[in-house]
Amino acid sequence: MSKFYYLTTAIDYVNGRPHLGHAYEKVITDIIARAKRSLGKPAFYLTGLDEHGQKVDQSAQKSGKQTQLYCDELAVCWKALVDKLNLDIDDFVRTTEQRHIRVVQAAINKLNEHEHFYKAEYRGYYSTKEETFLTDRDMREDGTFDPAYGEVTELVEENYYFRLSRHQDWLIDYIEKNPGFIEPQIRRNEVLGFLKNNELEDLCVSRPASRLRWGIPIPFDPEYVTYVWFDALLNYISVPAAHNDPVILEALNLSPVEGVSKKELWPADVQVIGKDILKFHTVYWPIMLKAMEIPMPRQVLVHGWWQKEGRKMSKTTGNIVDPIEVVEDWGEDAFRYYIVRELAIGPDGNWTDSGFAARYHAELANGLGNLVNRSLSMLNRYRKGVVPNVSNELAGDVTKTVEEVAGLLEENKLQPALLSIWSLITRANQYVDSTMPFKLAKDPAQGARLDEVLYNLAETCRILAVLVWPFIPRTADKIYEQLGLNSEPNKTSEAVWGGLPEGHKAGRPAPLFPRRDVKSDRSK
Ligand code: MSP
Repeated sequence: MSKFYYLTTAIDYVNGRPHLGHAYEKVITDIIARAKRSLGKPAFYLTGLDEHGQKVDQSAQKSGKQTQLYCDELAVCWKALVDKLNLDIDDFVRTTEQRHIRVVQAAINKLNEHEHFYKAEYRGYYSTKEETFLTDRDMREDGTFDPAYGEVTELVEENYYFRLSRHQDWLIDYIEKNPGFIEPQIRRNEVLGFLKNNELEDLCVSRPASRLRWGIPIPFDPEYVTYVWFDALLNYISVPAAHNDPVILEALNLSPVEGVSKKELWPADVQVIGKDILKFHTVYWPIMLKAMEIPMPRQVLVHGWWQKEGRKMSKTTGNIVDPIEVVEDWGEDAFRYYIVRELAIGPDGNWTDSGFAARYHAELANGLGNLVNRSLSMLNRYRKGVVPNVSNELAGDVTKTVEEVAGLLEENKLQPALLSIWSLITRANQYVDSTMPFKLAKDPAQGARLDEVLYNLAETCRILAVLVWPFIPRTADKIYEQLGLNSEPNKTSEAVWGGLPEGHKAGRPAPLFPRRDVKSDRSK
């Protein structure tokens, strides 16, 4: 058995409903997972929910519900998003599950046994919103804190601390020696800059149960619960442990779960996160792993943040993109396509309703949709849907694109891959315009030429289905269906010119992306 290509996303706080930012992260991870599978590599995709901590507890209290019940109810809505976005996940973790708690406690025990923790008194300030301690250094001249911290309270309490500073030099060295560990490079430089210019402060990993009961008990001191970030980061290894991953079971001295077949997952191949949680994933997390003697993930891939119509998304102002609404209105593939086409993984992005509608019409309806529709309509009209003999006029262009896209997908370069696919679509649409099959059809002497054109178009559509599958899987399936193919377009190895055999009977076309009246969309 070989190791899976293991992908993770951040796990979302279950204190509200999902918005565009959460959906974006899950979709890009899904596309990477599907791309690997298409390229022949088994992938394991994990996502889930971060349910502990004061933030979630307070939201539950505000809603008047018992906290676990509050989480259970909201979890239904987050799990529904997985289906809505057509995410092909392999597991969904909730940090209140026993399988996660067991691993968190084993990890804490190991770190404690190896003397990575100490107990000390803390005097200072605490921001519940950010679940973080603040010091005088964070205070502004007028004695207040940045409003981003929300309400800040003064505290004196004893807690457990994790010694971080002894790992600082090792971490700098590790990041320098492994240039691909943090992508894109601007984020790597940011972390290196931070590590080189600041001495790491030890991390407080507990909260007194008297102040916050909503957390995982510290196994050797029941008066404390685990700091929510410390608990949450461990989801990336608690799920492998639940699948009997030998690396994690051994490192934490855990017994295998009975009746569960072993999966080799760790180290993660790519951990996808947003830029705001960079420090947690590229400073605290690697140090936690190092201290537990667990290998590093291969890559932390950091995406930017979305705004809507040039302004921060915010529930209070109502400036929010609700992914479920968009999917119900336009279909999941239109949503998946727009967010990946609009924004490369790295920079910040801006959602505009007009930009969305424009791309839908120009690139999906008039681009891919029109190509498939007219290719199949003409095959039906002129040849009763029967595929003519193989012709290779577009074979060179198509093969070049397949190779280029495969190379880009190997490197998780999603937007460039999409651009490459769309230039083939443009090329094929131009081919229709220049060969004018509707004219050829009028001249019986041009029958052989018409056959050639129709073959090239049908075969290009077939291979395009394979190429777009990781991005817009349902549309890819529809193209295969309309071509009358029973197999699935989910393997790059199928993208070899000439696969559509002579005499094959194609089905009838139906619009993949029906054109819409933009005015009525806006008035919604
Ligand atoms: N629970 C923590 C993560 C723990 S991971 C061990 C958390 N949750 S979150 O719900 O606030 O954010 C989850 C992910 O969504 C993060 O990667 C975050 O960057 C991403 N996004 C939240 N808002 C976003 C945008 N507006 N745009 C893009 N991504 C954003 O942090």
